[in-house]
Amino acid sequence: MRILVTGGLGFIGSHTSVELLNEGMEVIIVDNLYNSKESVLDKIEQITNKKVKLYKKDLTDKEEVERIFNSEKIDAVIHFAGFKAVGESVREPLMYYSNNLISTINLLEVMKKHNVKNFIFSSSATVYGDQGLTKYAESVGRGKTTNPYGTTKAMIEKMLEDLYASDNTWNITILRYFNPVGAHESGLIGESPNGIPNNLMPYVMRVASKKLEILSVYGNDYPTPDGTGIRDYIHVVDLAKGHVKALQNAPKGLNIYNLGSGKGASVLELVNTFQKVNGVKVNYKITGRREGDLPEYYADAEKAYKELGWKTEKTLEDICRDSWNFEKNNN
Ligand code: NAD
Ligand code: UD1
Repeated sequence: MRILVTGGLGFIGSHTSVELLNEGMEVIIVDNLYNSKESVLDKIEQITNKKVKLYKKDLTDKEEVERIFNSEKIDAVIHFAGFKAVGESVREPLMYYSNNLISTINLLEVMKKHNVKNFIFSSSATVYGDQGLTKYAESVGRGKTTNPYGTTKAMIEKMLEDLYASDNTWNITILRYFNPVGAHESGLIGESPNGIPNNLMPYVMRVASKKLEILSVYGNDYPTPDGTGIRDYIHVVDLAKGHVKALQNAPKGLNIYNLGSGKGASVLELVNTFQKVNGVKVNYKITGRREGDLPEYYADAEKAYKELGWKTEKTLEDICRDSWNFEKNNN
């Protein structure tokens, strides 16, 4: 199988490329390097000892997308490319709607023209919005999104449903990720956001490596056992393997799966585990709640287990160890 991986030099795309190559599939990457570095390609090749073809192109340029499909035989597309920063999407909504939607429309139109109808889409648990639940199953359906980034995900999901309704020869798998964290155990690939991180794990790493002074724990008065927020953290290698399973085992037609561990961990649990497994100190202080945060949510991960034969295998300890190993190797 020859898989086109869009955004394949990014955090999740690079780990998924490794797992696809390990399964004997061929990988072609398209990435415009907006949020990634070309050196990631060498790292993917180093880990797998396999060659990968890279197109340094922007998916919003339809002619370039067309050129890729004219030059390559492609069996399926895994679509990671997009912008993903929640706060930035609130400040720059047009940039988010434009990049995320136009890229996807171009890709689907060109795929349709070339009769390539196997598509896996990176969606997010953010499409559930706040429906007053802690555990979210796919059957709950989309809720009200709270930021333009989330709205692009919900709009693309709806677009894919409409596309499938118009032509049921498409095979479309929508994967809703919970909180992807961690890094490859080689320490060669991982996530290192530019600037001051907004998400918990990258912030913890900057504090542990003394690049930032102190972590603010946003609230310890939530109705959770230790009062801090609870999320479903998923190791990026488990997440990457979920994509391989989706390619191999998803039933025909349009299917939606949560990719999460099915369990929650609190902010303090994550911080304490990080300190313990890595033997480092993470200074923190309790501050007020962050606006828009929910107390607790995690995946109902049963559907992916039953239909794809996939579940997470790595623990919070693995997540903390591998994240720190990557940080030490790369910064
Ligand atoms: P990332 O930013 O590390 O990777 C995205 C890649 O896409 C980058 O390498 C970027 O350069 C590329 N890209 C962006 N726009 C492009 C364009 N127009 N043309 C070509 N390349 C383009 O992000 P990630 O964390 O790997 O996320 C991958 C996907 O998963 C995204 O769609 C994201 O919204 C989704 N997702 C991520 C998370 C998360 O927490 N990381 C959670 C839920 C969903
Ligand atoms: C955020 C995004 C979500 C995205 C996810 C990806 C928002 C509103 N949502 O979710 O769309 O899919 O990242 O991983 O931004 N925390 C602290 N201190 C910090 C940072 C975070 O205490 O400095 C806490 C938060 O309050 C939360 C938990 O850590 O309880 C996780 O936060 P974060 O990593 O930002 O993820 P989400 O808020 O779940």
